[in-house]
Amino acid sequence: MEPSQVTIIGSGLIGRSWAMVFAAGGFRVKLYDIAQEQLTTALENIRKQMKEMEKSGVLKGALSAEQQLALISVSTDLKAAVEGATFIQECTPENLELKKKIFGQLDLIVGDSVILSSSTSCLLPSKLFTGLKHVKQCIVSHPVNPPYFVPLVEIVPHPETDPSTTERTYALMKKIGQSPVKLNREIEGFVLNRLQYAVISEAWRLVGEGVISPTDLDLVMSDGLGMRYAFIGPLETMHLNAEGVSSYCERYAEGMKLVLNTFGPVPEFSGGTVQKVNQALSEKIPVVPKVLDARRKWRDECLIGLAKLKTQMKSD
Ligand code: NAI
Repeated sequence: MEPSQVTIIGSGLIGRSWAMVFAAGGFRVKLYDIAQEQLTTALENIRKQMKEMEKSGVLKGALSAEQQLALISVSTDLKAAVEGATFIQECTPENLELKKKIFGQLDLIVGDSVILSSSTSCLLPSKLFTGLKHVKQCIVSHPVNPPYFVPLVEIVPHPETDPSTTERTYALMKKIGQSPVKLNREIEGFVLNRLQYAVISEAWRLVGEGVISPTDLDLVMSDGLGMRYAFIGPLETMHLNAEGVSSYCERYAEGMKLVLNTFGPVPEFSGGTVQKVNQALSEKIPVVPKVLDARRKWRDECLIGLAKLKTQMKSD
């Protein structure tokens, strides 16, 4: 059974974006926060974004901005906010004790069929949910910022999560137009951040050792690897760059191992390299709220354009 009402706990950056994704999917959304002013700002921000997107023809879903806005209501009363919800997406700050407290409160007031899902970027389900009465209904649905424009969601179960919770979450994410992936077990960093940190780590080393400038390092990704990664992953890249994966391994395994064996230890992310990277990036994009916001807006516009292109180029 598909939920018709979802509750979002926490109306910050990610909570707002989830609210928009669900409203675009036609769901009634209750947005809960401890701070009324935070909810007011969230609603204003959502309205502004939806109107702008409607104007430029990129609003998601079959409903108008007004119809979608009418689906969203706010509350500072947790019990009232979760009443009637069949899916709850927690989006509070990344703090284990705070999240455990919230899931503890939810555990006391929810029924046996609602799904309790967390947006956490790096807290493991076993840390968040162990000991809860409703642990079978608990799961992590980790979005990518901003989830409205970047569809991937990593679905990570607790060892005691019921398989039906995973399946229902997966189906729900599909239904609202996101792109879910299932992890078979929890692991630090899930998958997206493990890949991201591997890239950051090597980028940091190359810049730190003076092999390449920070600006050129970023170009290697944005005008090189990233061009294809928006469409095919690293494994398909192997498949296509030879006559299949086996042939790629035959040809390149030795070379890959040679390079990989020259990778050093985990960087400290401190000292001179921080200054070097920060200086280069700050010259290009000064750390001033107005400038950062303009750049984020441009990034989101790029992502909208890319999403359109991906729809046009869909292969299956
Ligand atoms: P944020 O700081 O923008 O928003 C947090 C919201 O939670 C605020 O509105 C705050 O008032 C509210 N809040 C605080 N205590 C609360 C409580 N006890 N009950 C209800 N609401 C409460 O944080 P953001 O960036 O939206 O992150 C939320 C979660 O999403 C975190 O777990 C984060 O790791 C995860 N996430 C963040 C991404 C990002 O790039 N920002 C990407 C993917 C996941």
